[in-house]
Amino acid sequence: MYICPCCGEKLKQSDNSYTCRNRHSFDISSKGYVNLLLTKGRNPAKAGDDPAMIRARSDFLDTGLYSPLADKLAGVLSKSLAGVKDPVIIDSGCGEGYYTVRLAGALPGTRLFGIDISKSGIAHAASRKKALRADNLEFAVASSFSLPFRKGSADGVVSVFAPVSNDEYARVLKLGGKLIVVSPTERHLFGLKALLYDEPYENKPNRYSLRSFELIGVERLEYTAELTTDKQVRDLFAMTPYYYKTSPEAAQRLEGCAPLSTEIGFLIQTYARRL
Ligand SMILES: C[S@@+](CC[C@H](N)C(=O)[O-])C[C@H]1O[C@@H](n2cnc3c(N)ncnc32)[C@H](O)[C@@H]1O
Ligand SMILES: [Zn+2]
Repeated sequence: MYICPCCGEKLKQSDNSYTCRNRHSFDISSKGYVNLLLTKGRNPAKAGDDPAMIRARSDFLDTGLYSPLADKLAGVLSKSLAGVKDPVIIDSGCGEGYYTVRLAGALPGTRLFGIDISKSGIAHAASRKKALRADNLEFAVASSFSLPFRKGSADGVVSVFAPVSNDEYARVLKLGGKLIVVSPTERHLFGLKALLYDEPYENKPNRYSLRSFELIGVERLEYTAELTTDKQVRDLFAMTPYYYKTSPEAAQRLEGCAPLSTEIGFLIQTYARRL
């Protein structure tokens, strides 16, 4: 399924590595993932979410407060891919693999590939896979803008709060394949923002220029989450963009604020690859 990031030829797995016909070789790490990110011109240690963000997101997601989104995604995917035999799904920008692993469990007839540019994210995702002993999913370090998959090899691409690439998703999806993009609604995390900012604002809808796709479905998943401990509040804060944008004085307002109620809102958009 993977292609070589150097020359685009098929990668074949043998023992603990993937190799192409041009003898480019990529080791499978002891944790069980492969690094297919070309590092020329960039510092891989600084790519994507850092280990502290990955830990915070992982601890937060493990509380189950976003579990309704995992269930919803599984439902949307299984409806979108109804009738497709042994579908292949790519979770692009999968982070530490929470949703990828949940999807692999909920959709046993599918093959899932999670990719993320963050090495620590993928290392964590691989440990989730090991714990689950799931054999229908693989993880690789790679960029959403240079996916290590053949043209027309996937039936579905999922992007949850992650960068979106029209050209790469159009390339790897089969004609009629489905792209599911999850983004925040206007009121997502409003309770958290009301604590941080004197004048909290609503989120503006994300705009994607997905010219190779047709929007075929929009769903909203909205509920209120009760954060019971300061750690949950801190972890949630650390996995948002506000973490970087908020002054230390404002961030201090989160200390001792639990229990905290906050609105949660996910917009789930389904697109079909245009014929
Ligand atoms: C907000 S997180 C969402 C992670 C995961 N989908 C989730 O919802 O838990 C965004 C993710 O996109 C990843 N990312 C950023 N730029 C990327 C790129 N060019 N290619 C692949 N992943 C990227 C980050 O490393 C991070 O894990
Ligand atoms: Zn090669």
